[in-house]
Amino acid sequence: MTGSNGPLWKILLRWYDTHGRDLPWRKTRDPYRILVSEIMLQQTQVSRGLIFYERWLGQFPDWASLAVASNADVIRAWAGLGYNRRALMLRDIARKIVERGVPSTERDWRELKGIGPYTAAAISAFALKQRALPIDTNIRRVLGRLLFGVTYPQPTIDDKIRASIDAILPRRGRFYDVPQSLFDLATMQCAKVPTCATCPMRSVCPAAPKFLAGTVRVPKQMVKKAVEPKHRDKKFPDRIYRGRILKLVRENGPVSFDTIGPSIDARYDKRQDRAWVLSMIDRLAADGMVRRVGQAVSLA
Ligand code: ADE
Repeated sequence: MTGSNGPLWKILLRWYDTHGRDLPWRKTRDPYRILVSEIMLQQTQVSRGLIFYERWLGQFPDWASLAVASNADVIRAWAGLGYNRRALMLRDIARKIVERGVPSTERDWRELKGIGPYTAAAISAFALKQRALPIDTNIRRVLGRLLFGVTYPQPTIDDKIRASIDAILPRRGRFYDVPQSLFDLATMQCAKVPTCATCPMRSVCPAAPKFLAGTVRVPKQMVKKAVEPKHRDKKFPDRIYRGRILKLVRENGPVSFDTIGPSIDARYDKRQDRAWVLSMIDRLAADGMVRRVGQAVSLA
């Protein structure tokens, strides 16, 4: 695995020292800031994430300030990021942490509702400086190629990647910088269509010869998308229309039931779609995003 070039992390860290991005969440070990950045980066690219990150921290600089925020405050601050339930989840985590203290191990982080294996490993590596390997789609793509020569690795490869941790992270030293270097390599060299000719890992990467030969077929989708619930012949899954309802209410204050349908769907048909819109409002209400007041809907 190491070959004549030395261990993989040596090449990665040498490249990272000159080419790595200067990102604010890389200059802190504050678990709050790390968590905020990781949740945001799960749904937006770094360039947009930077803006939301600074704005969010301006409004909610720490666990305590977030813990006392109302649903409406949090939903407004999250506007534009999507997956609004994550904003409420983040606030609920802040409440738990204010009550019980900050978890100090990856296992304890996993106990919190909304923290999955990726996020727990990321906090463990970047905030707790532990030897953990977070695997998101970017890191999976880089390591699937670099370790196994798989050009378009699927999530089923994650166990194999985890089993190879000793080939990726040094036992001591800067192991927490290695995942950061992988994020950067993933966007700067090892994107969906990689630029192997200029990649620092070219000579040690078993996928590089395949890409350089020009015979690799680029899949339309990297990973099979989950099938999402959809109403009759609507163009998008319900999630998209729920997002539109929330945006409407967020930007206009209370909105009456009967204006919602036509505002979120140009082909709204009262007879066929009214029950559908009401069910989406119910779902938003159950999730703590909106409230029904008489014949209207307002932010929770
Ligand atoms: N994606 C997820 N976490 C990231 C980080 N810390 N830096 C850049 N991209 C990321």
